[in-house]
Amino acid sequence: MEPWTFVHATDIHIGSPRSFRYAPAWNANWQTARRQIIAMQPDLLLVGGDLARDGNIHRWELESVKTELDTLPFPYHVIPGNMDTNNKHTRISGQEPGRDDMDLNVAMPDYDNYRAVFGRPWWTLVHKEVRFTGLGGMSLGSGLPLEGELWAFLESLADLPRPRYHIWLTHYPPFTQSPDEPNWDITDREQYREWYFDLDQPYRGRLLEIMRATGATRVLSGHTHVRKQLAAYGIHFDVGASTAFTQAGPNWPDGDHTLGFQRYDVTDSGIAYTFVPLAEVSTAKGYGPGGHPRPDQRDYSKAWEK
Ligand SMILES: [Fe+2]
Repeated sequence: MEPWTFVHATDIHIGSPRSFRYAPAWNANWQTARRQIIAMQPDLLLVGGDLARDGNIHRWELESVKTELDTLPFPYHVIPGNMDTNNKHTRISGQEPGRDDMDLNVAMPDYDNYRAVFGRPWWTLVHKEVRFTGLGGMSLGSGLPLEGELWAFLESLADLPRPRYHIWLTHYPPFTQSPDEPNWDITDREQYREWYFDLDQPYRGRLLEIMRATGATRVLSGHTHVRKQLAAYGIHFDVGASTAFTQAGPNWPDGDHTLGFQRYDVTDSGIAYTFVPLAEVSTAKGYGPGGHPRPDQRDYSKAWEK
């Protein structure tokens, strides 16, 4: 085959000065990444969720991200991240100050918002000799009505034609240490971040089984904003960098916090991975709190645009 390129950008977190918080640097960083990606003339772009700063709170942020992505000169395929819908489910809250984890559980109205802008939150397609399959991962274990639909879709993939490669795209990495890591304890401050970043059993195991049964070549994820390459079952698990900002990720002493995106070159002999750092990182200052502030902590009087 003729060699060709696709790009995986994730956690682009495009925000808005109409919000209770705004980081112009993150928008500027996306514009830098965008210029670099366009210069590479990829066949397509995968955007791995956390498209907006607060898409789970403001549908209009999702709409403006779509307007932005629609101007790209090549096709793009998106999945939702937890900041576009809400987080994976928990039955108890952790002890992070100012955060109510139960209140952040993804719910059907969150998916309705996402679907109204970007369409179905999971998909599969074939481009040249690669199958691409995408899902966010937040609904796994949620018990929401759409979770059953998602599992039925995933279970049906094994019956589809198998091209040479199968690239999976998820927002949550299935695991951060190893496939058989425990379900981390959300109430233990030492384990909170590990809990926050991976998928819980038995959903993790079921998803990994499906990935293996469908001939997964690579699984591209985001969510951590820290880059690391893991491996299991002969599959590469590439957790990608954010284009927007760094944060404390999982317990990875060797994790790379550099901002950027992932380039993949497809040839007959395999798919080569290259990390591309941002050519320039903005230092523009914004306003508002980080994390997951409760509604009473969102002060819209601070907005730069009314
Ligand atoms: Fe993110």
